[in-house]
Amino acid sequence: MTLNVVFENRVFHPHCTSMWGFACHIPQMRLLFDTGSNGAVLLGNMEAMGIEPREIETVVLSHFHWDHAGGLLDLLRAHGSKDVYLHSGFSRTFASEASGLGARVIMEDSPIKITPEAVTTGAVPGPVTEQGLVVRGPRGWILLTGCAHPGIVRMTEEAIRVVGEPVHMVLGGFHLLDRTTSQVTAVAKRLMEMGVSMVAPCHCTGERAIETFADIYGDAFVRVGAGTSVEITAT
Ligand SMILES: [Fe+2]
Ligand SMILES: [Fe+2]
Repeated sequence: MTLNVVFENRVFHPHCTSMWGFACHIPQMRLLFDTGSNGAVLLGNMEAMGIEPREIETVVLSHFHWDHAGGLLDLLRAHGSKDVYLHSGFSRTFASEASGLGARVIMEDSPIKITPEAVTTGAVPGPVTEQGLVVRGPRGWILLTGCAHPGIVRMTEEAIRVVGEPVHMVLGGFHLLDRTTSQVTAVAKRLMEMGVSMVAPCHCTGERAIETFADIYGDAFVRVGAGTSVEITAT
């Protein structure tokens, strides 16, 4: 399984552009999780990575912050109808703008099995209501998070509860910008105890927290930015 980071604050590809926000594409599922803050950058990065936006059938948005939802309307405008999974944290105006551009909008707070291999956590309450997406790869379940405003441990707990099995990897924003190193260390150890054996923290995790995760997880830490393709293989 491939996880293409197509929008991120840092860039690891000569022809991609960095901008504050997050989006991750899974080609095998024809799925996009979040859309970054800017349609032109999103589409430009996809082109640089050889991704055809028209082939994306499903878009899941984590939460109604512009650095995650901002690319959706341009994507729909340029590349036609898609299924778009939102929750009640999104405004009705935003949902109807997406519908107006041909999207089939599914606004749901409960977990949804999009396919047997892609399940939303449902809307997790927090400072900002947010949903994660849990996808099954060759080594088991992977959680994608946008900002993890409800807390990365909380999001992971929900993911495990929804699929009823362990989550071996978490990729996305962990929202630890304002935490001390000892607090971040405690979060990393908690995730390890929960069975998360691989992490790719990015976006709003915070530079210092990302380095703490790199120290703690060692070889099981994956550094990602715009243009990174993470290949998950069976072994
Ligand atoms: Fe964010
Ligand atoms: Fe956010």
